[in-house]
Amino acid sequence: MYGMNIDDIKKKYMDLQDHINIFDTTLRDGEQSPGIALTVDEKIQIAQKLDKIGVNTIEIGFPAVSEGERETARTVKALGLNAEICGLARVLEKDMDALIDSDLSYVHTFIGTSPLHRDYKLKMSKEEVLNKAVTAIEYAVDHGITVEFSAEDATRTEMDYLIEVYKAAEDAGASMINIPDTVGVLTPIIAKSLVHDIKNALNTPISVHFHNDFGLATANSLMAVEAGAKQAHVTVNGIGERGGNASLEEFVVSLAVAYDIDLDIDTTQLYNLSDFVSKITGVKMAPNKPIVGDNAFAHESGIHVHGILENAATYEPIKPELVGHSRKIALGKHTGASAIKSKLNDFNIELSEDQFCSVYDQIKELGDKGKTITDADLKAIAVTELSTTPNKSIELLGLAVMSGESVSPSATVKLLIDGEEKETSKTGVGPVDAALNAIKSLIQQTTFIELEEYNIEAITGGTDALAEVFVVTSDNQGNKATGRSTRDDVVMASVLAVLNSINKLLVIKNS
Ligand code: KIV
Ligand code: ZN
Repeated sequence: MYGMNIDDIKKKYMDLQDHINIFDTTLRDGEQSPGIALTVDEKIQIAQKLDKIGVNTIEIGFPAVSEGERETARTVKALGLNAEICGLARVLEKDMDALIDSDLSYVHTFIGTSPLHRDYKLKMSKEEVLNKAVTAIEYAVDHGITVEFSAEDATRTEMDYLIEVYKAAEDAGASMINIPDTVGVLTPIIAKSLVHDIKNALNTPISVHFHNDFGLATANSLMAVEAGAKQAHVTVNGIGERGGNASLEEFVVSLAVAYDIDLDIDTTQLYNLSDFVSKITGVKMAPNKPIVGDNAFAHESGIHVHGILENAATYEPIKPELVGHSRKIALGKHTGASAIKSKLNDFNIELSEDQFCSVYDQIKELGDKGKTITDADLKAIAVTELSTTPNKSIELLGLAVMSGESVSPSATVKLLIDGEEKETSKTGVGPVDAALNAIKSLIQQTTFIELEEYNIEAITGGTDALAEVFVVTSDNQGNKATGRSTRDDVVMASVLAVLNSINKLLVIKNS
């Protein structure tokens, strides 16, 4: 992948641990995102899915906060999942007691260590902060609790003091030292050197908890792993305070694919998990969200689609199946003929060369108007094309409509009828009616035609949906013919459907 053997790079530049623990905090830090509040049942369902996918630790909540949090923790703990169930606690005896009361035996405990937190939030000296941390860790350990200790706002704490606090936590019995980048100020190189220095000063495994304020949480977490971190805190879809946390799916896939580290995570469940959490939390994913976004494996441009159809690896870093996602060939103005042909093939629609050219032109025209064409749109356009009469004795040369508040809707239609140009304007109850009246008046100079049926449907939702118009016309000899058209303009779709039907009727009449 890098033009150099990954194992050589790993040996030379990285201090990778054999196994990286995935500590998921979707249900704690993720739930702290504004607007998210999960019920006990929702938390249980997410915890079960996280466990199924293979995360090592699930931070279930903050037991000291409420009886509801404690009840959730107890219920999830009682499920006997493979993952360790962890609760958050301040360095307070009462928080540890709440955790014990929740039947948990793993605590993630924290206290702010930066000057900002000491001076403004805690109003404590350096010694007071350190002593409080030590006392709480000792209390938890004495009660048989495994302790993971976080120096909140570690990345804005004086380095010598930070190491002093971490050493004291280690001596007090903490089993994991966590480095939170509480307001996401780290950059990758600094993350790597910070983890490297803290790791060298301690004997306890290092964990990181990086926030995404500058969009660097996943990159920073990967650098922490390169520097020897044993564990990273992540959340599904990267949800969390403000800009969120490092995202589970991005971190896991990068480790597995770019670093070739086996995590025992079932990556094929990532898309489902992301979708589930998105629906339950109401936090929608941006289409361009890596790994799980709608566009993560979507292709529109002709060059890319051509490459994808030959060999998907040309424009995809991984197979969508690896994360349980699916490939999407989107149609729009960048679409090439091969993409349209491949889709029509999937739909079992066979078109003549002329019909295909017409479908292709319509797709380009719609794309130029800024519309993304869905599969349903393409099917409707192609089916319309299939049902069009090849020999048009009446052709549309021009159409103009006018409608408004205080004027009668009117339409001017110009037709080529048997080689002769004819034009007229008519009014109607609406622009479609006016246009159809104009057509009727032009045609009826030579032939009697009646509109028997008129149906209109929007193919997809939205104000720019394509309109599919289906009509039936009849003549005075009892002949009937259907007509169909699909356009983004309702009047145009109606006019073309009627002309399509009339042309068929003329074929029947003259045969
Ligand atoms: O971001 C943070 O600092 C936290 C703490 C609770 C560790 O989430
Ligand atoms: Zn956090």
